[in-house]
Amino acid sequence: MTSERIAVLNIEGKTIELPVLAPTHGNDCVDIRALGGKAGVFTYDSGFLSTASCKSSITYIDGDKGELLYRGYPIEQLAEQCNFLEVAYLLKNGELPTATQKTDFENTIRRHTLVHDQLTRFYNGFRRDAHPMAVMTGVVGALSAFYHDAMNFSAVGHRDMSFNRIIAKLPTIVAMAYKYNSGLPFMYPRNDLGYVENFMYMMFGIPCEEYRPNPVLARALDVIFILHADHEQNASTSTVRLAGSSGANPFACIAAGIACLWGPAHGGANEACLKMLEEIGDASRVGEFIKRAKDKNDPFKLMGFGHRVYKNFDPRAKLMRKVCREVLTELGLENDRLFKLALALEKIALEDEYFIEKKLYPNVDFYSGIVQKAIGIPTSMFTCIFALARTAGWMAQWEEMLTDPEYKIGRPRQLYIGAARRDVMPLEKR
Ligand code: SDX
Repeated sequence: MTSERIAVLNIEGKTIELPVLAPTHGNDCVDIRALGGKAGVFTYDSGFLSTASCKSSITYIDGDKGELLYRGYPIEQLAEQCNFLEVAYLLKNGELPTATQKTDFENTIRRHTLVHDQLTRFYNGFRRDAHPMAVMTGVVGALSAFYHDAMNFSAVGHRDMSFNRIIAKLPTIVAMAYKYNSGLPFMYPRNDLGYVENFMYMMFGIPCEEYRPNPVLARALDVIFILHADHEQNASTSTVRLAGSSGANPFACIAAGIACLWGPAHGGANEACLKMLEEIGDASRVGEFIKRAKDKNDPFKLMGFGHRVYKNFDPRAKLMRKVCREVLTELGLENDRLFKLALALEKIALEDEYFIEKKLYPNVDFYSGIVQKAIGIPTSMFTCIFALARTAGWMAQWEEMLTDPEYKIGRPRQLYIGAARRDVMPLEKR
């Protein structure tokens, strides 16, 4: 990994040589770990625009090409040929499962879909109108109080058990948050259904009648899960890694990731995007909102547009637009007002010199709200769906961090710009 090349820094006449690390794909990295000791200086990179926080083999993003690879496989091929559990297996283990491994993994997940019945009481502590992301943050964090039988995470068996439990239980927890919000009874998981079909059953089924998931909608949701499964060192994944680096248990780390994902600049953008489209209302008003998005004095941003890494189309946005068309066609909603408005907004924005100059393209959140709404998922649940899917990536990244030979607790430094040293004055003299 270390290339022959050296980066040479000259700081106040002192020459510092630092090794350059060469990746499989992407940017070389200057290894600055020794910089503080060698030169007594830190690097400053608020927002981590140019900082690699770790080595990882899980996901690669080429922002200029608009490329996304999970363990080397292009997202387009995975979305076309695999289901979410296969992708979750891939993210964790580094290889796609064989047919036998796939069957075994699916059966293992099926056996962990129930939550401890005491956990259902946590929901009653929330108001019925609590935001489901607040409920998820609390309930997933509470899982750490239930599993003391597998807390030695240096043991691969305990890491596997935690992975299986959380992948299996997240759909149950998310569906329970939805049912609690709507005042409907919880639906227990069914082991005769597939992962996504079971989630839809728990979300949309009711005890007094038969529920059969629409296979086209189930497949669409499966693809939506795949598209959201992992995305390199984004804010919520970095949160999970940092929390996990202290040795905190994975359920608490995932709860921290859920809390971070909730922000409108991150996973909350799909909910914000749909609200924005509702506010725009009609294609005739798109120009007014594009103008606002370009106005430095207006905090308004075009939700679902722009990305820290993608300076080209987010490949997930293209796939999401395709899923959106398939779902709307299946439901006879080809002329869905919001979808047509989103297409118009995308066209106008992509032709605008501001968006071209700043390389702002639709991201994963731009179409996901429209398709989820069509499937019947309420707006407030969109980020819960994102969190459900991203848990696969968070758990894979958590395990990779724990098993990294260079693993240390994360402890960034700072550029201190506060008051110089001074003495406390007696109260009467202040
Ligand atoms: C996700 O990191 C990940 O991988 C995240 C994610 C994942 O899978 O984990 O991909 C999921 O979070 C997708 C992003 C969802 N968020 C949104 O759609 C919210 C709207 N987007 C913006 O808030 C913004 O684009 C960010 C937060 C996504 C990226 O912000 P950056 O990288 O910090 O870029 P920036 O805000 O510095 O923007 C650069 C310029 C700025 O103008 P200048 O200060 O240079 O003049 O572009 C402008 C911004 O004002 N800009 C926008 C804009 N996004 C950026 N202007 C109008 N509308 C926008 N949407």
